[in-house]
Amino acid sequence: DWIMGDYIAEAVARIREQVGDEEVILGLSGGVDSSVAAALIHRAIGDQLTCVFVDHGLLRLNEGRMVMEMFAGRLHAKVVHVEAAEQFMGHLKGVTDPEQKRKIIGREFVEVFKAEAAKLKAADAGAKGAKWLAQGTIYPDVVESGGTKTKKATIKSHHNVGGLPEQLGLKLLEPLRELFKDEVRALGVALGLPHDMVYRHPFPGPGLGVRILGEVKPEFAALLQRADHIFIEELRKTVDEATGKTWYDLTSQAFTVFLPVKSVGVMGDGRTYDYVVALRAVQTSDFMTADWAELPYSLLKRVSSRIINEVRGINRVTYDVSSKPPATIEWE
Ligand code: XMP
Repeated sequence: DWIMGDYIAEAVARIREQVGDEEVILGLSGGVDSSVAAALIHRAIGDQLTCVFVDHGLLRLNEGRMVMEMFAGRLHAKVVHVEAAEQFMGHLKGVTDPEQKRKIIGREFVEVFKAEAAKLKAADAGAKGAKWLAQGTIYPDVVESGGTKTKKATIKSHHNVGGLPEQLGLKLLEPLRELFKDEVRALGVALGLPHDMVYRHPFPGPGLGVRILGEVKPEFAALLQRADHIFIEELRKTVDEATGKTWYDLTSQAFTVFLPVKSVGVMGDGRTYDYVVALRAVQTSDFMTADWAELPYSLLKRVSSRIINEVRGINRVTYDVSSKPPATIEWE
């Protein structure tokens, strides 16, 4: 609508004025906030923006391909795709403690991002390099780091890339700082991002690293990605008759957790001894408290039989019926 059109024109003008002819880098995660920030900044300054997408090997299935198709393919933005799975997996080897895993993933993320920023600088013929680091910080993040919502941060360390602008010696560009989540989504739609990208569930920075309980192994990540993909696909496909909405839209966050325990099953004439996954789906308005979602049994049944039939290596699916508190949304 015209109000959003005005907003975009104003935001674009502000970004151009702030940045001038300098270069900007942005860490693109595939999440709503960094995607909308990237689309807005790209609208404002085009090729002065370089997005860096770090694939730590703990993302959702096909995430890298989707991000590249959208931003490099459709928006024609400059995107550097960093394949860093081996590096992250190497550092996570043997590590089982959840907070330790978060620290390692956060630290490696900063390392990879710094190395990419340095490479970009070296490759720049004018030797100017980026002067700005753009981030998809939104208003609730600003309030949170101001200390109003510290409780969450003390239970699990969330801010995986804190201090990055200082370490890189870059000025900070945060064009979404004044917006609430629903405004960010509306802006994303107005900028031409697809509905499914803009109305995505949140995904934690450490990704599947905290959804594979205990030690993270590449083969566990591969199984979990496929199982989770089936769960999300069925949630997106299944419409609730009472509301006309999909179960994806009726839940605030839904995902699959890999449990590194084996249980016995039967398949054909044989006995199996394979891994277990837990499905998690919650409804919440603020993620501080959350109810487990009363998904239809028919949906759970379809997800379970698809995972067990399609993902060799998993022979049992459970549903998590714990609310927050006392459980947390993630299992780690
Ligand atoms: P919990 O598990 O604390 O999760 O109930 C609340 C919300 O925070 C997300 N979460 C994280 N996000 N880095 C993030 O960026 C993290 O380390 C992290 N841990 C939890 C979780 O997905 C949920 O939306």
